Amino acid sequence: ESYDMGGHDTYMHKEIHEQAEAVDRALRGRIDDRFSTVHLGGLNLDARDARAVRRVKILGCGTSYHAGQIGAQMIEELARIPADAEPASEFRYRNPVVDPDTLYIAVSQSGETYDVLAAVQELKRKGARVLGLVNVVGSAIARETDGGIYVHAGPEVCVVSTKCFTNMVVSFGLLALHLGRTRDLSVADGKRIIEGLRKLPGQIEEILANEAQIEELAKEYAEAKSMMFIGRVRGYPVAREASLKLKEVSYIHAEAYPASELKHGPLALIEPAMPTVAIVPDDELLEKNRAALEEIKARSGRILAVAHQEQEKADHTIVVPKNEDELDAILMGIPLQLFAYYTAKAMGRDIDKPRNLAKSVTVE
Ligand code: AGP
Repeated sequence: ESYDMGGHDTYMHKEIHEQAEAVDRALRGRIDDRFSTVHLGGLNLDARDARAVRRVKILGCGTSYHAGQIGAQMIEELARIPADAEPASEFRYRNPVVDPDTLYIAVSQSGETYDVLAAVQELKRKGARVLGLVNVVGSAIARETDGGIYVHAGPEVCVVSTKCFTNMVVSFGLLALHLGRTRDLSVADGKRIIEGLRKLPGQIEEILANEAQIEELAKEYAEAKSMMFIGRVRGYPVAREASLKLKEVSYIHAEAYPASELKHGPLALIEPAMPTVAIVPDDELLEKNRAALEEIKARSGRILAVAHQEQEKADHTIVVPKNEDELDAILMGIPLQLFAYYTAKAMGRDIDKPRNLAKSVTVE
């Protein structure tokens, strides 16, 4: 299949730039202003079923697993249901306890990832309710699940996932809002989240308009042999995904750590040759994050912050627009997709087809 490249040099660049439109598509026709909620037609989960859910377990691999980690936090925050994400590849090998009151969600771009499909089949065999959060319509995982949400990112060709990750996280936002509104999320909070969701496409355009700054920074940091990515709570899965993006496409070694864990070991790695990319949202953890930047600076570490305002302790800051605290994670990784792209470009990498990787891993 071939697609119009529309002047982009790679699918990765093209797909990064398609995100505002893709998010718009994920939202279209789903928002219900009258009741400050969303309609998710394919969910097959009525309000009574939704209220009976005691736990949510999200399963995916790679980038989809990271989207699931953000999704779990959104579900906990907005619906107050205990939720967590786990790599499907690990879950299926540890003989998990399958609980009838748990809602299982399988996340996948291709809908064909073998580890995720095998986890779904095992769950179904044990009588669990499993939903899919999938991009490819009619794929194996979409067919095997009891219902779900299509993320509507459109075709993603680059092996390195970008726009699909963003649409997955937006879809989790919709699901969290939906579950929240069947439970204790107020009309006012529902409205606040809807307003935040509606702002996303415009804010993505704003981030992408800052491409020249990100290109310059990427050229500067491309000399590093290894990079540290840190974030806290909502920012941590963003850091993990950004670190995966960088290593997949540039082959630079990168490690992601919760900022809170630095002093328990990884601080020993900090020195001028080991730059840190820090996710610093303007939320209740801002001061804690700033303290981590100070600790890194005190060890002569170079810092690139992704934040809602310039960070004094950072050598460079990429400023992103602020949304609602619960939705900030959707936006904060986007500049780091461009950062990974431009780093790989500066290093002459095969961006759309990184070595040793396949778009869809249909084998064990
Ligand atoms: C994404 O950049 C990766 N290439 C990879 O981690 C991918 O997300 C993973 O293999 C899962 O694929 P899926 O979403 O198609 O299930």
